[in-house]
Amino acid sequence: MKETSCSSPTAWTRRLELWRRADLERTLSPASSSADCWARRRGGRLLNLASNNYLGLASDTRVVQAARKAMDRWGVGAGGSRLLSGDTEAHHDLETELAELKGTEASLVFASGYAANVGVLSALASARDELFLDTLCHASLVDGARLSGAKLHPFPHRDLGSLEKLLDAAGPGGRFVVTDTVFSMDADLAPLPALVSMTRRHRAALVVDDAHGTGVIGREGRGAPAYMGVAGEVPVTVGTLSKALGVQGGFVAGSRDLIRWLVNRSRSFVYSTGLAPALAAAALEAVRIMRKEEWRRERQQRHMAQLRAGLGQLGYSVLHEPPAPMLLVMTGNPRRTLRLANHLEERGVLVSAVRWPTVAKGACRIRLAAMATHTEAEIEAAVDAFPPASKVPDA
Ligand SMILES: Cc1ncc(COP(=O)(O)O)c(C=O)c1O
Repeated sequence: MKETSCSSPTAWTRRLELWRRADLERTLSPASSSADCWARRRGGRLLNLASNNYLGLASDTRVVQAARKAMDRWGVGAGGSRLLSGDTEAHHDLETELAELKGTEASLVFASGYAANVGVLSALASARDELFLDTLCHASLVDGARLSGAKLHPFPHRDLGSLEKLLDAAGPGGRFVVTDTVFSMDADLAPLPALVSMTRRHRAALVVDDAHGTGVIGREGRGAPAYMGVAGEVPVTVGTLSKALGVQGGFVAGSRDLIRWLVNRSRSFVYSTGLAPALAAAALEAVRIMRKEEWRRERQQRHMAQLRAGLGQLGYSVLHEPPAPMLLVMTGNPRRTLRLANHLEERGVLVSAVRWPTVAKGACRIRLAAMATHTEAEIEAAVDAFPPASKVPDA
């Protein structure tokens, strides 16, 4: 669909109608309970495979209790940006724990993972620099890259040969190579060891977004760089508290001076109210639990293998590179995708219908992520709710 201007009420009403007719309109659907194994929506109970709460920590009583206790002490909101009045011991305790988790000197917490990505890239790169981004990088990395004013060079997904050619031709300014560690809409992993050596050879800084690796991948949930044996060799790691940790907020881990620079120059950190202290306290408890409870990662992985095998037997084309915590069922066009998602919802299973512009046109898909706290029987029921692939009607 052609992008047109949205400069008047009639223009956006017209544009919205075009979106609706193309089966691209997204709508909100309020839940009446937490983002747990089962979601309550529109009076019904749905098996929840649409959440990023991979380890089931969002409603863990210990995490909720930590938030409650912190709220009694600090109230609900931070009351100001961290540099003014919004800094608390809860933020610093969490930052110490996150730095330890990632094996770095320091870390800094942001109000969301989105804010962290935007704030980090725009504070590090400037118009003199060049940024090399995997074409499937998350939108927040793309937005941060654009905001930096640096020259952007997208490289084909995980294509090291193309990246090397672009780096060979780079100018004298600073160079940054930017990638997700786990691509959440393709369920595959970035080749981090090769990226570490290539960035070293080309004197480029490697910036990785471990949003979907932190907590679910590697021993103690240390994330994808640790899983691939390059923890400590990535100068800038961004992550989120909102997925496997089940809370909310984002963070950056790196050297002490990197963090000092961001405290001074990262606009989404400086000019925004600090993360609510209760969320910082909840995230600290969630990190401690997730590090100790290895069974959560093992079980989430087992569920994903069960889903992959079951859907493969039904004839679906499935994307999933273990240990990615999600998988994608390829559906093609938006109508077919919505039909399948609606069919599943009618059978009590909640999934995400992923369409353009989140993914390429014609490459729509259904995204599924199990939680550690689901049971094997629930995962089996989810597979049983799928019709054979050949029976999903085309548009
Ligand atoms: C790869 C990636 N990075 C960053 C974010 C943003 O994180 P948050 O939801 O904490 O803002 C997301 C969430 O969608 C993501 O998938």
